[in-house]
Amino acid sequence: MKNHNLAVIPGDGVGPEVTAVALSILDAAEEQFGFSTMRTEVPLGADHFLETGNLLTEEAIETLTSSDAIMFGAIGSPKVTPGVLERGIILALRGSMRQAINLRPVRLYPGVPTPIAGLTPQRCDMVIVRENTEGAYVGTGSTVHRGTTAAVATQESINTWYGVERAVDFAFRLAQQRRKKVTLCHKTNVLVQAGALWLEAMRVVGERYPDVEQDYVHVDAMCMHLPVSPERFDVVVTDNLFGDIVTDLGAVVQGGLGVASSGNLNIDGSATSMFEPIHGSAPDIAGKGWANPAGAALSLALLLSTLGEGKAAAAIERATAAVLAELPGLAGEAMGMSTTGVGERIIAVMQSDEAPGLPGDSLMEQLAVVQAGLRDRA
Ligand code: IPM
Ligand code: MN
Repeated sequence: MKNHNLAVIPGDGVGPEVTAVALSILDAAEEQFGFSTMRTEVPLGADHFLETGNLLTEEAIETLTSSDAIMFGAIGSPKVTPGVLERGIILALRGSMRQAINLRPVRLYPGVPTPIAGLTPQRCDMVIVRENTEGAYVGTGSTVHRGTTAAVATQESINTWYGVERAVDFAFRLAQQRRKKVTLCHKTNVLVQAGALWLEAMRVVGERYPDVEQDYVHVDAMCMHLPVSPERFDVVVTDNLFGDIVTDLGAVVQGGLGVASSGNLNIDGSATSMFEPIHGSAPDIAGKGWANPAGAALSLALLLSTLGEGKAAAAIERATAAVLAELPGLAGEAMGMSTTGVGERIIAVMQSDEAPGLPGDSLMEQLAVVQAGLRDRA
């Protein structure tokens, strides 16, 4: 029986609540699909920081690096200055684990309410490939005369050929398993330096994948097209900051932050990929059982597909989608069930195998193929 070593970072707020549900779904999936996991909890987050003064420790990095995948809940707390945990933990992990890609599916599941009138699941099935370690997130720049009316702040965006090329290459690999279209989302008319590098990467990489169609959209136009004509997009590749912004928009279109999942992928095998729901720690509702665990469950599915457990991943995705369709609302009291109640229902649906198939191909299977191709290359 295959065994996988997982590191688990439950984090703060609703993070531990949704992570506990994801782990119980994992227990059920192991039994049903015949694999096992060893789990090591890594206590990172606000409480840990306030108790110990540590953000990331060497010990934590070691545990994370030596594991096969990381399951991440959410971190953040009103007790810690905004930005400290984000930079010191989330962004530090994405960098130190060389998680080149932030993979964010935008998929509307059947029966899930979307604020976009008339939108159907058939029309909304894209994957956003967000470059995950560079751009404005590098945080370089300077301030002089801080705190005076003469203050001058510069904030740079770092774009390396190495970082951009590997994100674009991943997008093409994924598109090859899907509807064979990659759209670059950028702002090349204004950000002319970075834009030229991204366009050149599209041209060069595109030559390696002649069967994949290329398209381009400015990020402002993307915000218009994504909600009303998502069928234009199959795989979208974009820079770190644009990707941050458009994936929140994508999350709303697919039913809200409670539904959206993500994978921070290390694609060269040099460290570990990390999977997290897109929502934050939501301290205002922590402890109430109001958080929707679907984002965490779908992130678990992404995790399992990259570990080669495609069947389990697809079953979790289908069961989660089916339960989302049953809920009267997607978060808070409107969900009509507690966080753990939703988790139990997902498990029951998965075990009874009563979840209907989903329209379109399974992203979970596509990812497993891409991952295998990357392993061969490495
Ligand atoms: C996300 C978040 C993070 C980001 C924050 C918490 C640093 O918004 O994962 O999208 O900006 O990447
Ligand atoms: Mn974000």
